[in-house]
Formats: sequence, structure tokens, C-alpha cells
Amino acid sequence: MDKELLSVVTVGHVDHGKSTVIGRMLADAGALPEGKLEAVRENCRRNSKPFEYAFLLDALKNEQAQGITIDAARCFFGTQKRNYIIIDAPGHIEFLKNMVTGASRAEAALMVIDASRGVEENTRRHGYFLSMLGVSQVSVLINKMDSVGRKRAVFESVKAEFGAFLEKIGVLPLSFIPVSGMEGDNIVNRSPLMPWYEGPTLIEQLDGFACAAAPENLPLRLPVQGVYKFTARGDTRRIVAGTVESGRLRAGDRIVFYPSGKKTVVKTLEEFSAPVPASFGPGKAAGFTMSEELFVRRGEIACLEGESPPSAGVKLRANVFWLGRESFSPEKKYLLKCAAAKTEMRLESISKIINASSLDFCERRVCERNEVAECVLKLERPIAFDLAGGVEATSRFVIVDGYEIAGGGVITQLLPDFDYNLRNIRWSSDALTASERAAMTGRRGLVVWLTGLSGSGKTTIAQETERRLLSQGVFTYLLDGDKLRCGLNSDLGFSAEDRRENVLRAAQTAALFCDAGAVVLTTLISPFAESRELARRASGESFLEVYVKASLESCISRDPKGLYKKALAGEIESFTGLSSPYEPPESPELTLDTDTLSEESCVDALLNCILARLEDMSF
Ligand code: ADX
Repeated sequence: MDKELLSVVTVGHVDHGKSTVIGRMLADAGALPEGKLEAVRENCRRNSKPFEYAFLLDALKNEQAQGITIDAARCFFGTQKRNYIIIDAPGHIEFLKNMVTGASRAEAALMVIDASRGVEENTRRHGYFLSMLGVSQVSVLINKMDSVGRKRAVFESVKAEFGAFLEKIGVLPLSFIPVSGMEGDNIVNRSPLMPWYEGPTLIEQLDGFACAAAPENLPLRLPVQGVYKFTARGDTRRIVAGTVESGRLRAGDRIVFYPSGKKTVVKTLEEFSAPVPASFGPGKAAGFTMSEELFVRRGEIACLEGESPPSAGVKLRANVFWLGRESFSPEKKYLLKCAAAKTEMRLESISKIINASSLDFCERRVCERNEVAECVLKLERPIAFDLAGGVEATSRFVIVDGYEIAGGGVITQLLPDFDYNLRNIRWSSDALTASERAAMTGRRGLVVWLTGLSGSGKTTIAQETERRLLSQGVFTYLLDGDKLRCGLNSDLGFSAEDRRENVLRAAQTAALFCDAGAVVLTTLISPFAESRELARRASGESFLEVYVKASLESCISRDPKGLYKKALAGEIESFTGLSSPYEPPESPELTLDTDTLSEESCVDALLNCILARLEDMSF
């Protein structure tokens, strides 16, 4: 059987002795071709320069000797347990690109630090780099221990300082090893000069790293390429087709499609012009029929019920390697392709940029060619995906700009998106549905969203309406904007951003009350049409928008709280109607013009509208 292969990336400043450590390891592990070590020593002698293990790597470059190959930045060698590819990270753009785009993956990392220099800016940068690549198995080699008298105290202090830093950025090293590349301490042979150290040697640590799980052992991921309908000769089968990326699919399996969440059972497996196998495993083009005819979109991922599901959503944190001639910018629309899914996408923000050759960090709004950006992407349509470190094919994506592939990356986090989450909350199967709850309580919820200028009469009308509805036995609650601003929303002010948040929280709260079966009357200025639209979506069908209309002049003359006076005197900033806009609703379910109608007529009109809607809503 072939030995398994593990990719290990090495990072660290050149001066900290990375090449010496690797050269020494190859030599001591007996991985070098016959006579090579002697030849390099001899060469050094002839040129009167001291021998260094680092020279070995240069001498071996591009040499295809048995058991070892070294090219520009990679070195292949093996131990008894398995084979390794050791990759030197900085300066290797190609590697970085492959890592970020998921085309190749390092499963472990070795970080080399000079014990006498300790933690420098550069070392920190390399730490960030590993955290960005999401390499979870890291060992820190504290090198040149011979130059600090092999003192435990030096080792412990570098370990403590660097360990604390790594923890902050989410990298948890498996080991810190005191080594000397020059002298060979704890590389392959345990150092008798550091008896205080009891952890693994470098080579033991390498063999101690775990290999990633084989795709076969991961949960089923079958991205749907297409659904084909056969109509010939009475054949009515609809066959779902795609390639199994991980896991295994069998007839009779209960499957869930993501992001739609639709469930079905695999009726039969299908194979085009070949005998049907008992199951489909990774890498196999699979076809199957379903026990009920669901509408499934191309790009959805079929998964097994009960196995860990993929993430699904529209807002993602990702690391993107940019290759495009034009910069990656929030101003443009792109196409994102992830497994079989395709959707329009925008760059929402960039939190960090790393230059792939220098590993320098910077902060900018746009990302240029050969840079890696840690960024937030907003998709037009939801997709299902896995996070970096999970199933590869469903966690990486490419970005298309016009007709060319301009970038690639991996998804590192699903971010909450209020709008999407509200529409896609997946209740567990034993949770009551809205109609079950309605049937049991005899109540149907409704959100009655009153919007209008300050002083337009929202609260007055809502208070009276609440009283009348309650007296008729309708379970009602007035969610008053001013009250929310004293509690739930007390951290918010009146900037556009804060108002948006204010309205979103109120909308969410109203939706929950509504779900519990209440008729909720909300009174917030809610000046922005877009936020009101989100509020509507939060409650779906159960929503009435009521525009409480009054001219600015009458609001100013009513001025119940004396705020217009202050705002006109310049004492209040961003006051709605004066120094901050109000966007009147375009098609509200009801408009109450308080300039022309009496309070009583407004309340009557609102009551009728609410009762008619409740009547319409069947149980
Ligand atoms: S909203 O714009 O975010 O919907 P909300 O209805 O919660 O506003 O709060 C409006 C109330 O806050 C007004 O009735 C008024 O009493 C008070 N207020 C204080 N400052 C302002 C301001 N700058 N603009 C509007 N209302 C303000």
C-alpha cells in the first residue's frame, strides 16, 4: 500500500535558521542521497567557507535523487511512517495561491524562531499568515538553543510570549520544541544537553501530525449539477445528477438539499449506460431518483439527514487570492462559483490584505493582483457551503469578473444576515409551526407597522386602537418605539445606521410577538423604506404598513415634546423632517391623514383594516 502523504509548510525568517533545521533533519534522518553530505562538505572546504546544513538544500535543488526531490520551495522526503512534502511558504506565490484557493493544502506547519532574537514583528506576521490559511496543526521550533546556552529559562520565556500571541489569533500549537539546526539538538536525535525537555523531537512531531480525513469518511456532499427529465416512452423519471465530493450515497438514504432544506428519500440510484452500482462514493458522477418529486435547483447540495449539515447563507467571511488585472473592489458586481452553485456577489468589506510575496500587511478598500484579502462577501442568492478545513470542494470558490477567473478563495465563516436569517430560520422538527400554534391558541398574530413623522399621531392612534382591540377580546400589544429606545435599543442614537438597527430590532421583536399570536402595533418613525421592507419580510404575510400622514408644518405646530423647537434652534442633530430625511411609504395598506381626519376616524379606519385582515387569515 502507498504510504500516506502529508504536506507541511515551514514559516520563519531566513535568519532564524529555517533551512538549517530542514537540512539537518534530512541529513540526520538519512534522507539524503549517498555521498551528498560529504560532497557539500568537501565543496565548502575547497571554497574555504564553513559548512552549513542550509547549503544542502541548495545543492539538492532540482536534483531528482532517489527518495528526495527539492525544487524551488518544496522538498519531498519520507520517514518510516509516511511521506512528506515540506513547503517553504514566504516568497512562494504559487503555493500561497494554491493554499488560499484550496487547490492544495498544507495540513501542518512548522514555525522557526531564533531563541536569541525571540518574537519579532516578522514572527508575528508569520503567525497571522498561518491563522489566515487555517492550518490547525502547528509546531513551534525554538532554534539556535546552542547560542543561548541551551537554557530552559530562555526557551520558556519565548514559548510564553509567542504562545500568548498565537492564542490571541486563534492558533494553538501542538508543541514548542527547543532545537539547534546547527548542532542537531532535538531534530532527529534527542539532545542529551537539554534533559529538561521531555516533549517530542522534530521528527517525532512530524510523524505525530494527523493526516486529514479521507473524503470517504466525511459527510455526504453531492452538489447538484442538474435535474434531468426523461419523457420518452412513458418514462417520467426525474434524475438528479452531480458528483459525489465526499461521503457515500445509497438507495433508501434520507437526504436534505441545502440551502433549500427540502427533504426526500433516494428512491433509486441511476447510471447512464452502465450497470447501477450499490452506492456512489467520492469522485463518482452520480444520478438518483427521489421518492417525491421536489423542485431542486442546480447548485444545491444533497446531504444525508443526521450527518453534519453544510452552512448556508448570503454573507460570508472568506480569504481571497486575487489574480485579476483590475482590482477587487466593493464597487463592482462579480460572479461567485462554489461547487455547482453560481450567484452574483459583491465585496462588502476587506479587513486585512497580505501581499503574497512579501507577506506585508496593509489595510485598503480594494485588493490588487497577487494579494490575499480577508474579506466579507455578500451573495445575491443563498448557497450551501462548508468552511475551510472541511470538505474541500464545497468550501472553496472562484470569483469571475466579466469572463475571466479573477480570484479564488476559501470560506472561513458564515456571517449573520438579518434579512436572510429571518426568512430561513429552520426550526427543529418538534417545534410548533405557526399554523399549529394558531390552531392551539385560537390566535393569529399580525404586525401593524405605524410609520410617520415625530408628532404625526402614531402613538395617540395606536394607544386607542390597542384599548379597543383588547376590549373586543383581540390579544394586542403596543410595541412603542420610545419605550424600546429606553431599553432594548438604548444603545442607539439617530444616525442613519442606528435608525436602521433600531427598526430592525423592533421588527424582529414584533415578529416574535406576532409568532406568539399577538396583534402588535408598532410606533416608530422608521423613516427609511428599505428598513420597513425588511420589517415586512420579517413577518411575511402577517404585516400591515400604516402611514400616519401629517405635514411637517402641522407636526411643528403640534410639537408635543417640544423637540421641533429645539431642532429648529439647532440643538438636535439629524432631526427627521428637518435635518434627516423621511421617505413616505409608496403603497401602504392604509394611510391615515391626521391633518384632515379626526383621531376617532383614524382609529375606526385602523380597527376596520385590522379586523378585516384577521378575518381573512384562515386557520
Ligand atoms: S426612528 O427614526 O429610529 O424610527 P424612533 O421612532 O425610534 O425613530 O424615535 C423617534 C423619537 O425619538 C421621536 O418621537 C422623538 O421623541 C425622539 N427623537 C430624539 N431625537 C430625534 C431625532 N434626531 N430625530 C427624530 N426623533 C428624535
